Amino acid sequence: MTNSAAEGPAVGFQGVHFRVNGRSLITGLSMEIHRGETMVLLGRSGSGKTTVVKLINGLLHPSEGAVMVEDRTTSAWDPVQLRRRTGYVIQEGGLFPHFTVERNVGLIPRLEGWPKERIKARVDEVLSMVGLDPNEFRGRYPHELSGGQRQLVGVARALAGDPPLLLMDEPFGSLDPITRDEIQHEFLGLLRRVRKTTILVTHDVREALLLSTRIALLDLGKLVGVYSPQGFLHSNDTVARQYAGALRTGKEKMRLSGDSNEPS
Ligand SMILES: Nc1ncnc2c1ncn2[C@@H]1O[C@H](COP(=O)(O)OP(=O)(O)OP(=O)(O)O)[C@@H](O)[C@H]1O
Ligand SMILES: [Mg+2]
Repeated sequence: MTNSAAEGPAVGFQGVHFRVNGRSLITGLSMEIHRGETMVLLGRSGSGKTTVVKLINGLLHPSEGAVMVEDRTTSAWDPVQLRRRTGYVIQEGGLFPHFTVERNVGLIPRLEGWPKERIKARVDEVLSMVGLDPNEFRGRYPHELSGGQRQLVGVARALAGDPPLLLMDEPFGSLDPITRDEIQHEFLGLLRRVRKTTILVTHDVREALLLSTRIALLDLGKLVGVYSPQGFLHSNDTVARQYAGALRTGKEKMRLSGDSNEPS
């Protein structure tokens, strides 16, 4: 790797607009994602989070402006090379239904021509990382898994080729709260160990605060701001305050302590 590729941001948005049929889905987005950081994209449903992720791995291209990955724009990258450098966990899991877990997870290493034994060892390793027992799961097909397990296999697949950039679109959305909590903490440990550049999409403010080095808040296709977790909680911005407020009131707790305004 050259020195110039090791410097500068991992990803840069430069005045990016993205339109479909005259409708603006992303408006004037400029931000940089540093190497090794975990940038969380936070925003309500329809705010443009998935669109931003797809602009990074070249599934979509800006109508205006440029998206830089390392030292070049996404349109200058060879699409296959770009996708192999980015482990992508898609929102719906996206496993091949007719492949076993082992073949799904080993997809990129196989495309990269790794020797069979190394692929097998790596598949077992990443399955264990996401808390799935390889002996139990490697031979199963996606329809033999729960929705949450399918998501975890998706995360394992994204990790398998050891890509420098991880794009994770609501990777833990289908997990029950207890498993979700466990896997978030596991994942935090993993992120600290591997220090990959990670872009993680969520609408869960707790997940954002736990996993992020910085939070990019999106609203209606626009970047409201980029914050440190602390900065986010203390921001004066209206949208950020809504999230922080929801966290502070802990509405569920109030209900349980009998403080509710339920009709009697
Ligand atoms: N191909 C498309 N054509 C037209 N509109 C689209 C297209 N893809 C997405 N949109 C619209 O763009 C907006 C942003 O969509 P996007 O999927 O990026 O949102 P999101 O923040 O990921 O939402 P969610 O949290 O529900 O996954 C939405 O209003 C959506 O309806
Ligand atoms: Mg989405």
